[in-house]
Amino acid sequence: MLTGPNVILVLKIAVSAVTLLLLLSLLALARGNRRLHGRINIVFFVLTISALLALEVIVRLIDPTIFDYFDVPMQRNLTIHFCFAIPSACLLPLMLYTGLRQHREIHIFLAGMFSALWIGTFISGVFFLSHH
Ligand code: HEM
Repeated sequence: MLTGPNVILVLKIAVSAVTLLLLLSLLALARGNRRLHGRINIVFFVLTISALLALEVIVRLIDPTIFDYFDVPMQRNLTIHFCFAIPSACLLPLMLYTGLRQHREIHIFLAGMFSALWIGTFISGVFFLSHH
């Protein structure tokens, strides 16, 4: 059933799953397997952008009132979540581009920012948005 709490729950599971992929890609990198890091992150990119597009379709086209059940503190939590999620989504294509094009310095520089933003996205989304 397409309800607000269900959408939040599915998103929490999706974000946890792709975070696991990101961690695996970093493990591959730490073991010297740059190629595997790249491959895993292409999957990470496609899944994350797909989830984002699906969410946009639900919120903007299918049911714009879906999150109206959020009370004021929860709306504040959502705003905080956006402060991390929107910049990290903007960085994602740059991460992929700089990785594929082997712009090493820029990729590693952006990776620092991306990691901080992703941690914020994960914590604010998984622990501070209610799916009840
Ligand atoms: C978050 C922390 C990340 C770190 C510390 C990191 C670090 C690196 C490093 C050191 C390389 C090797 C660069 C070179 O020698 O030219 C690399 C390659 C690459 N990275 Fe990342 N990266 C991160 C995240 C990402 C993300 C989020 C993506 C994609 C969305 C990505 C995609 C790639 C790709 C496609 C390559 C090229 C692999 C290849 O040469 O076959 N990385 N990364």
